[in-house]
Amino acid sequence: MIVVLDFGSQYNQLITRRIREFGVYSELHPHTITAEEIQKMNPKGIIFSGGPNSVYGEGALSCDEKIFDLGIPVLGICYGMQLMTKHFGGKVDKANHREYGKAKVTVTNKSSLYENLPEEQVVWMSHGDLVVETPAGFVTDVTTPTCPIAGMSDEARKLYGVQFHPEVRHSVHGNELLNNFVFEVCGCSDSWSMENFIEIEMEKIRQQVGDKKVLCALSGGVDSSVVAVLIHRAIGDQLTCIFVDHGLLRKNEAEGVMKTFSEGFNMNVIKVDAKDRFMDKLKGVSDPEQKRKIIGNEFIYVFDDEAAKLEGIDYLAQGTLYTDIIESGTATAQTIKSHHNVGGLPEDMQFELIEPLNTLFKDEVRALGTELGIPDEIVWRQPFPGPGLGIRVLGEITEDKLEIVRESDYILREEIIKAGLDRDIWQYFTVLPDIRSVGVMGDQRTYDYTIGLRAVTSIDGMTSDWARIPWDVLETISTRIVNEVNHINRVVYDITSKPPATIEWE
Ligand code: XMP
Repeated sequence: MIVVLDFGSQYNQLITRRIREFGVYSELHPHTITAEEIQKMNPKGIIFSGGPNSVYGEGALSCDEKIFDLGIPVLGICYGMQLMTKHFGGKVDKANHREYGKAKVTVTNKSSLYENLPEEQVVWMSHGDLVVETPAGFVTDVTTPTCPIAGMSDEARKLYGVQFHPEVRHSVHGNELLNNFVFEVCGCSDSWSMENFIEIEMEKIRQQVGDKKVLCALSGGVDSSVVAVLIHRAIGDQLTCIFVDHGLLRKNEAEGVMKTFSEGFNMNVIKVDAKDRFMDKLKGVSDPEQKRKIIGNEFIYVFDDEAAKLEGIDYLAQGTLYTDIIESGTATAQTIKSHHNVGGLPEDMQFELIEPLNTLFKDEVRALGTELGIPDEIVWRQPFPGPGLGIRVLGEITEDKLEIVRESDYILREEIIKAGLDRDIWQYFTVLPDIRSVGVMGDQRTYDYTIGLRAVTSIDGMTSDWARIPWDVLETISTRIVNEVNHINRVVYDITSKPPATIEWE
């Protein structure tokens, strides 16, 4: 295992990712972790990430200095290298100008990091400070005209530093450099894979749970599906899933979830038909925030009511991902959003949590889902918001309007899949604005609703761009919707990015 210490760089997750891609397990930890805690994990190497601070600046982030005495190889990246320099008595100073972007380094000392790499390499730099004097025992490995000490090493103590970012793809040989650190310097073996992850996690779940019972809220989304199947594989019928149908799901969705999990995986799934409960509460409500709140709260009440009917449940399983934890704020990374998996469940629920995915990234969860035999349409399902179609019928929600969204959304999905665009477009759906306009159909005047098509490309939903769907595909979608969905006489395509718009309309 390789431990990555987080000093606040925007790239720190990438380091962990790259190492896992080598087949070596890696975890990101706050820089405040103690040497003792690290020792307990028994890692083969430690990487210090970059960070926005200056090592001499006020509030500069540091680490437990005893980490350097553990005898474990260390690679310091950018800020990490500067911190190492400061610790061992070298000198760090402000650069004449901030360096940001591509640079060409020349290898002057072929330490183990540069084994089999060319003498000249393009790397990615992003720094305001630089090392101006190496500490005793270190030699300069690579240099550029503006950054004379762009990398250094003390091979005897297995300490290494690079001013550039090998984890970023723009560093052309960055991956090979990290590979050299992980395998040549630290002596890791590439034995980490999804198969052994499953075995290890199943054993952990069995150890944790014993003969007790586990409850899981199954939504049909990839995270909760993977958690449920993994736990079911470990403890079988000790797991009960609750699937709440709030009546705001897409066409055939509830049936699909039940078919896959209850029939396909033979799992114990309780389907709660709570459509009327939700519709009652939503009657007459048109404010988006109020709608969201009602749906969120009602979901908890329904779940709570169902859970109370079950006896002897000790654990609650959740599909919390690694990114949820990181985004909720490690000691260093800024809080981007509070993750909503845990939030919301009543505080007086006396469950212990099981979160077997909390060390995985989204694409790793997908790989795990495939390994567990979960069908592609779930593993590759596009994100679907908790409030469901409730925030895609703008204004007051009625059964008729839900039906319009369901049918039009189904057509859109069919055509996107038919055009082979479903893996390229991050999310695609239809919305029903609360407006009507005049049209003409078969010589008759119509006065009916407009459907909005929304399709975006994105990496994480935080920002997005509208998808450039080919005209002819748009044309087919438009024609089909107007012909096949009652009360629609106009189709528009939303061509706004986020920001300034958001992905959903409410
Ligand atoms: P926005 O509309 O904020 O959406 O640009 C970004 C992503 O988040 C999804 N979304 C939600 N997901 N609960 C969720 O689980 C919610 O309340 C919620 N609201 C929006 C949205 O579908 C998009 O993928």
